[in-house]
Amino acid sequence: MSAAPTPAYAGPSRVFSGMQPTGGLHLGNYLGALVKFVRLQDQHECIYCVVDLHAITIEHDPKLLQQQCREVAAAYIAAGVDPKKAIVFVQSAVPAHAELAWIFNCVARMGWLERMTQFKDKAGKNAERMSVGLFDYPVLQAADILAYRATHVPVGEDQKQHLELSRDIAARFNNDYNAPNFFPLPEPLIQGPGARIMSLRDGTKKMSKSDPSDMSRINLTDDAQTIANKLKKATTDSLPLPAPDDPKRFENRPEVENLVGIFAALAAKSSDEILQEWQGKGFGAFKPALAEIASQKLSPIADEMSRLLSDANALDAILADGAARAHAISEPVMKDVRRIVGLWPR
Ligand code: TRP
Repeated sequence: MSAAPTPAYAGPSRVFSGMQPTGGLHLGNYLGALVKFVRLQDQHECIYCVVDLHAITIEHDPKLLQQQCREVAAAYIAAGVDPKKAIVFVQSAVPAHAELAWIFNCVARMGWLERMTQFKDKAGKNAERMSVGLFDYPVLQAADILAYRATHVPVGEDQKQHLELSRDIAARFNNDYNAPNFFPLPEPLIQGPGARIMSLRDGTKKMSKSDPSDMSRINLTDDAQTIANKLKKATTDSLPLPAPDDPKRFENRPEVENLVGIFAALAAKSSDEILQEWQGKGFGAFKPALAEIASQKLSPIADEMSRLLSDANALDAILADGAARAHAISEPVMKDVRRIVGLWPR
């Protein structure tokens, strides 16, 4: 006799993602996250959060944090997220995140968190001196997603393991509390041409705001001159660009692969299409063309960001509206969670 099939999660599909308000947004954030956020908003209900509770897991300046939240929110909107369609808000404005994180702390196992490579990378030899919050970071991330019962999470490759943990927590909660399919098992959305934008100096390292060299990245706020200069100095080799049908086209040329990938993502084309146009030509011609399209795409975003940031009241009103809409979705979920767990109702 076979068991009856477990019914699948039957709720609506919903997208959730978040970015930390750590300042210094760059091309990797734009192509890896923001472009995807914009693309998803027409087909899905989308919730885009600025995760300030995550930001306080490491040292931060309380005087700067609110403004850094505004900057990330402004970047979302400047890149094309429409705050009337998608929900744009700041994490700490909605109580469900911290509350559900606590409940999930009692669902997740120490061993699961001890396996998280991002904590190990960030803490290095200093794990004993890190905040408990940094260790617990992925549990809060699971709460972010599941407080809205989100089903899809656009993130970079480096967040795959955190998404696995979110699924483990959801499954364990559903199972331990005998609430089948209460939480969906959220899936990462990773693919896309801008999935991995690497450093301009070293094609094997991610473009990152924590790289000590500013030449390694293109910031959203760099002007055309700075962008051209950084690309001119970007690491390449003296060979011409390869042909798209060359099976070894990027062998031992991670920097070349990265620049072609950046060009493709900015032009909304495939790397092969870019190579079709550029095969046999040199970087002396390729780099200025790349600089041109990069500033063409980024400068209107930088302009729109400063316009939004010049009126903090208007921006804060958008974020307050987002928080109210986010709360309206998460509070009914939390009412069910409190009941399921046996906590006091409110
Ligand atoms: N950890 C994510 C990052 O560094 C940011 C984040 C926090 C997030 N909460 C989230 C991403 C929820 C997706 C969903 O990129």
